[in-house]
Amino acid sequence: GAPPLLGMLIPGGQPGLLLSSKVPLPPRYQAELPIPAVIQPVRSDATTDYYEITARAATARILPGQDTEVWGYQGTFPGPTIESRSGRRTVVTHRNALPHATAVHLHGGHTPHDSDGYPLDLISPQGGGDAMAGMGGMSKMAGMPGMSGATFQPQRDYTYPMNQRAATLWYHDHTMGFTGPQVYRGLAGFHLVRDDEEAALGLPHGPRELPLMIADRAFAADGSFAYPALDGNEGKPGVTDAYMNGVLGDVILVNGAPWPVARVDRARYRLRMLNGSNARRYRLALDPQPPGGGGLLQIGSDGGLLERPTAHDTLELAPAERFDVVVDFARYPAGTSVRLVNQLGSGSTSEVMRFDIGSGGGADDSRVPAKLSSIERLDPAKAAATRTFVFQKSQNNWTINGDEYRPGRSLASPKLGQVEIWRFITDFHHPVHMHLDPFQVVSRNGDAPGAYDAGWKDTVDVLPAQGVEVAVRFTDYAGRFLLHCHNLEHEDMAMMAEFTTE
Ligand code: C2O
Ligand code: CU
Repeated sequence: GAPPLLGMLIPGGQPGLLLSSKVPLPPRYQAELPIPAVIQPVRSDATTDYYEITARAATARILPGQDTEVWGYQGTFPGPTIESRSGRRTVVTHRNALPHATAVHLHGGHTPHDSDGYPLDLISPQGGGDAMAGMGGMSKMAGMPGMSGATFQPQRDYTYPMNQRAATLWYHDHTMGFTGPQVYRGLAGFHLVRDDEEAALGLPHGPRELPLMIADRAFAADGSFAYPALDGNEGKPGVTDAYMNGVLGDVILVNGAPWPVARVDRARYRLRMLNGSNARRYRLALDPQPPGGGGLLQIGSDGGLLERPTAHDTLELAPAERFDVVVDFARYPAGTSVRLVNQLGSGSTSEVMRFDIGSGGGADDSRVPAKLSSIERLDPAKAAATRTFVFQKSQNNWTINGDEYRPGRSLASPKLGQVEIWRFITDFHHPVHMHLDPFQVVSRNGDAPGAYDAGWKDTVDVLPAQGVEVAVRFTDYAGRFLLHCHNLEHEDMAMMAEFTTE
């Protein structure tokens, strides 16, 4: 039967702490869409490509005439894009020139525990000093267990076997209790995995393949990213609740630029959309829609290609979800400006970016084949176990099955190679993310999966008072992995759990 409903539906907009920028909002559609640079390996051998990345503070020009300090991989926000070939190992040496400890997680990576960015496997700040200094953030109130048990290294080599199919992955900070503030300051980048199957399809590529990291931010008067510190406000009525629900900004950035413009040809483009926001959900639509609608042709999800392309008028993206989409701008007359709008936003947050369609561009030799890939269906009837995880608010925190995150305590011990059903039941909106392996959505509130649930997922958008069942099969790597809410404020406020594969 249907899982029990908890909590209540929250009508209208998204609850959370909506911050207002203390600078004039930057003008829309002035900045050109930046494309993060692709980082080159420092060396390669027969099996492996080696990269080196340093997280550091730098200034970025996001607002007109004003600097913004970002904490970025290689000093940029987004960080440089890593491109891996499926089957070739990627080793990234991460260093940390920030004033605070870091941990790096490859989101969507099929990665052994040691390299998974476990939140207590930290990289110490290069200058030494107090690894915890200078951070506000919200976890102070959250009763998070703090850094006890943490191990610090001056740098870490993260080894990614890349024994996985082509997909849009991303890497971001995962430090215990401080993921929200650190990602908000800029510690996030794309990591694309490519393979032969995908290359043979003839999808739009090169300058017609655009990664889009969509993230909301608010700015302080000095131009810096405004992330709230709860200090002194703990327990004040209303304040705690708003902070707990998540941090929302009033400026929408795509690849770090406010409401940018991309100049495009009358041709197909592949848009690799990532919701890189801490807490904000989006419902994206093209405005105007192309004649006949269905302008957003989804070809892939978190875990790579779908079996067949699926046309949508709108796409809903919860934090951390990826949608791989082809838009054919030849369906519009030359000279059309097409906005990507957010139907869940209001005022400044109801717009995202714009595509200005030129007249030239030459031939379009790209294709979107009717069959993209094949996906093995995990059979729920063969599940070796069914486990239930209840995501729920407590007095001062967010919990899973009634417990706040405690490192080393494992909530489940799935056997490698076996299919299991995991049920997520929520009081509030929670984008539920699982490390190690992707899963398939089996049902929502006892009904069929939703319009945005297709393919291999690693994050599922669980709406308030829903029950979602997924089928998962963990493979290859025994060890401790994480299940958590990807609303980063919820995550920092303890909505995380460990499972141990064996
Ligand atoms: Cu993108 Cu454990 O996170
Ligand atoms: Cu949550």
